[in-house]
Amino acid sequence: MKFHNLLGRCIVPSIVLLPASAQSAHDLLDAVLNPSPESLHYSSYSSAIYFNATLFNQTPVAPTNYDRLEASAKEILPRNAYDYAAGGAGLEKTVASNRQAFDQVTYSTSPTSLHHINCPLKWNILPRVMRPVLPARNLSRVIFNRTLPAPIVMAPVGVQTLFHPDGERATSKVFGEEGLPFTLSTASSTGFADAATSNGEGNPRWYQLYWPSDDDLTRSYLRTALAEGYEVLVLTVDTWDLGWRTRDLDRGYFPFAGGVGVQIGLEDPVAHEQLGFNALAPNATAEQLQMASLYHVIVTSRGISPVWENLWKLREVWGDKPIVLKGVQSVEDAELAVKWGLDGVIVSNHGGRQIDGAVGSLTTLPAIVEAVKGKLTVGFDGGIRTGADIFKALALGADFVQLGRPILWGLAHEGERGARHVLKSLLAEFELTVGLSGCQSLTEVTKDLIVKTEG
Ligand SMILES: Cc1cc2nc3c(=O)[nH]c(=O)nc-3n(C[C@H](O)[C@H](O)[C@H](O)COP(=O)(O)O)c2cc1C
Repeated sequence: MKFHNLLGRCIVPSIVLLPASAQSAHDLLDAVLNPSPESLHYSSYSSAIYFNATLFNQTPVAPTNYDRLEASAKEILPRNAYDYAAGGAGLEKTVASNRQAFDQVTYSTSPTSLHHINCPLKWNILPRVMRPVLPARNLSRVIFNRTLPAPIVMAPVGVQTLFHPDGERATSKVFGEEGLPFTLSTASSTGFADAATSNGEGNPRWYQLYWPSDDDLTRSYLRTALAEGYEVLVLTVDTWDLGWRTRDLDRGYFPFAGGVGVQIGLEDPVAHEQLGFNALAPNATAEQLQMASLYHVIVTSRGISPVWENLWKLREVWGDKPIVLKGVQSVEDAELAVKWGLDGVIVSNHGGRQIDGAVGSLTTLPAIVEAVKGKLTVGFDGGIRTGADIFKALALGADFVQLGRPILWGLAHEGERGARHVLKSLLAEFELTVGLSGCQSLTEVTKDLIVKTEG
């Protein structure tokens, strides 16, 4: 009876086509928990949560609210690991600006009816109703010649075994399950082949390069990436030296010295030649392991900025596959990226980890989009915490968005299980936001739905 009330009141009619053959409340619940393929969509995840709790007394592995998720991860993680991920440069003003940039912009489903609101710093949402929006919204978009089910990418994040022993194996698997791109960092704690295996055959995977100071090593990393099926090269250009990360500095915490985040270097055959040993060989010494680890860090965060004039060296190996610059914040640099033949830019300030007191990443997005839309694919990251944030970034013109810290906090909750829960939650909330705003597909999620009112 309790289920009947629950079902009848509000939940089932909006989320699933009831099977005519259902004989009992249990059948109906089953239909919700295991929807038929044609009714499966991201927002079904909320139904699964409600019904798992109702039927099996199971609650989600991690909170669905970002602040509670981070607080819960903080409880689980060793202090060094939590601070490494949560922290930013200096006074962490840029970390804060990334969030403030979102909070200053809100969206409305009816911008035309919002004109002339004279209320300083007041933001309003005016939802439209009675539109023919079906349960399954079309969130797909073509990015770099692939039709993705949603334009959502795992940001390159190194050292993931700090957050769970499964690290990148777990996150690459979870993104692979959804057919969404996973980006492997040069500071990864898992090598190219292992991450590719857990990511799954045929799934979109990208490789993020911290450009080594040694050309032979660069070529070797790129060749291995290509051989393992990584198809987009993300060149991070804002982190050729480490920012002034005060939380880590106060403890002298540098995970790479302890052999975390150096696996790509440890496995590389050219690095073996250059060092004169393979630190992963059974007879290698602890000192050799530390030397090889430090060698990888030194050559990849070398304190010398990459320059436009050398881009041809990457193109020579990567061929005509896409190359994207990550860490662009100015219109001028985005325009230079067009001039130098890049395929895309990712508007990002590295999650506020490099420069303190910098502009919030979302603030820079609209002007960059205006300058290069149609000439470059534009990605965005920095401060995305909710499905509504994804909506806003796409409405402001990003072609795709990247998820960083939320997935790490998920990973801290039982590895793959927690990472999957956070990804599914963000996808569900995003799809709900699109639908509840009256949109059927991403072509309708445009700047017209973003309203910034000034008093
Ligand atoms: C712990 C941590 C490690 C990161 N490692 C890398 C990396 O190896 N390469 C890279 O390009 N960006 C790295 N980033 C930056 C992310 O790719 C992304 O730009 C950032 O997380 C976005 O900010 P948000 O997570 O606050 O949304 C890292 C970020 C964090 C939090």
